[in-house]
Amino acid sequence: MKGIVLAGGTATRLHPLTIVTNKHLLPIYDRPMIYYPIETLAGMGIREVMVVVGGKSVGDVVELLADGAHFGLDLTYRYQRGALGIAHAIGLARDFVGDEPFCVVLGDNILRGPALDGLAREFEAGPWGAGTLLYRVPDPERFGVAEFDADGNIIGFEEKPAHPKSDLIPIGVYFLRPEAFDVIDRLAPSGRGEFEITDVLNHYIPGRRLYIRIYDGHWADAGTVASLLRAAELARDDDEHGCLRPPTQRPAR
Ligand code: G1P
Repeated sequence: MKGIVLAGGTATRLHPLTIVTNKHLLPIYDRPMIYYPIETLAGMGIREVMVVVGGKSVGDVVELLADGAHFGLDLTYRYQRGALGIAHAIGLARDFVGDEPFCVVLGDNILRGPALDGLAREFEAGPWGAGTLLYRVPDPERFGVAEFDADGNIIGFEEKPAHPKSDLIPIGVYFLRPEAFDVIDRLAPSGRGEFEITDVLNHYIPGRRLYIRIYDGHWADAGTVASLLRAAELARDDDEHGCLRPPTQRPAR
């Protein structure tokens, strides 16, 4: 499986922190934000990763991650012009992905818990066309929100609804196959002018072609000032409990 980290966007919700720099370079406890999704993919045993960069300080992101050798990865980069959304950014990785299934992790998603390799293998071996992980949050209106029927089957995701239909959201981890590029090609931009990942996920719900599991660890995004702080606390707490720090995660510099 190949990996993709999305590190574009303008991060206006973090102004003034991100007026002159890229959100993904901001510190989360003891390391730059982008280390976390990189480590998530490395922890799955994925070796080939593309980082889609955009917005401010792109050169600094490349300088920081370099060729990825200190994470045990082989990194390549692609530039995303404008902030056209997650699905658009994934679309830029078509040539990189080739014929393989792939895992996308958003550059501001902090996962502290079990590695995702078992889930990735389950997805890869199964009949699903796409997959994501769900997490229960107190503020679902900030995210994509899952809706279920009376039997507990998922019937759709709504992006940032004013009236959320559940408190389960898709975190920024997506399992996809190359067929997703055709789905992305046919998307229309949403009301906020972005090509939404939730529209891609919704495509796979009929016929039960969407793989979903509840993420069994701790998760935070770091896209707002409050969640940036929470993400740092999460990383610190895990550190104090002495867990979740495989030695490969520290660059040898
Ligand atoms: C994005 C997705 C949303 C998902 C979230 C997870 O939101 O659009 O569906 O729940 O990431 O971090 P955004 O980063 O655009 O706020």
